[in-house]
Amino acid sequence: MLTLTSLTKSFGQNVAVDRATLNFDRPAMIGIIGRSGAGKSTLLRMLNRLADVTSGTITFEGHDITKLSGKAKRHWQSQCAMIFQQFNLVPRMDVVSNVLHGTLNRRSTLATLFNLYPTADIHRAIDILDRLGIADHAPKRAEALSGGQQQRVAIARALMQEPKIILADEPIASLDPMNAQVVMQSLRRIHEEDGRMVIANLHTLDTARRYCDRVIGMRDGKVVFDGTPEQLTTGMAREIYGAGEEFSEAATSTEIETLEQTAAPQRHEVKAAV
Ligand SMILES: Nc1ncnc2c1ncn2[C@@H]1O[C@H](COP(=O)(O)OP(=O)(O)OP(=O)(O)O)[C@@H](O)[C@H]1O
Ligand SMILES: [Mg+2]
Repeated sequence: MLTLTSLTKSFGQNVAVDRATLNFDRPAMIGIIGRSGAGKSTLLRMLNRLADVTSGTITFEGHDITKLSGKAKRHWQSQCAMIFQQFNLVPRMDVVSNVLHGTLNRRSTLATLFNLYPTADIHRAIDILDRLGIADHAPKRAEALSGGQQQRVAIARALMQEPKIILADEPIASLDPMNAQVVMQSLRRIHEEDGRMVIANLHTLDTARRYCDRVIGMRDGKVVFDGTPEQLTTGMAREIYGAGEEFSEAATSTEIETLEQTAAPQRHEVKAAV
């Protein structure tokens, strides 16, 4: 489905992503972990073509997308929607208009200029918000929502594009544990129910373990681990994070772990709260 071959990104002398070769043959939920500067964001940005590739190739369903430009590149970017740590919403704009922005690449300049949206799109936006449990907030300004709610608006905006892949760069790094859990559950549900591939950079090991089918570990730009959460032993985690004997899994975890221990849920028990 999606193949990266020897994908490399250099900034001058600094090799941010170093010959990453990965194959995604089915839509899974994938977590990318690694310490700060390991190259996680750069990898996602190349996938989405926000960043150009220095060398290597990306192919999706048999098409080389490494060097797409113009309209073809925008089409690819709509197929792999990206969500960010800081949500990137228009704060003073209402929620539903923020979501409708997800259809921008399909609309004429004139319609965009006058903020005209087809009724069908508005209904669809509300349906998506409803699915994410935030339809009641549709008329509010985005800035009036909590971080977790804003991230769900960003997910709704991504879903408006009907993407095949959702790329999430640290989607819960700015959220409190409860909101983090709801956002991860939403992403997991989108993967399970819609069959979309989700690739998320995650700053905590426990989140990757809990929500992902497959975990990719990066260190110094290289892919140093690719396997299931079960295969990710503490020893391997130590290697990914470049930590010594003092390393404990809790060191890479947020309070979400405490929350999970209290609630004692299963790793894939994700449908209840959304
Ligand atoms: N636009 C850029 N210009 C120059 N160097 C960059 C740029 N973007 C990233 N880098 C460098 O590439 C390397 C990888 O950065 P990247 O942001 O991909 O890491 P990361 O794993 O996402 O880290 P974090 O967990 O802190 O978000 C770092 O050494 C970084 O300084
Ligand atoms: Mg990053």
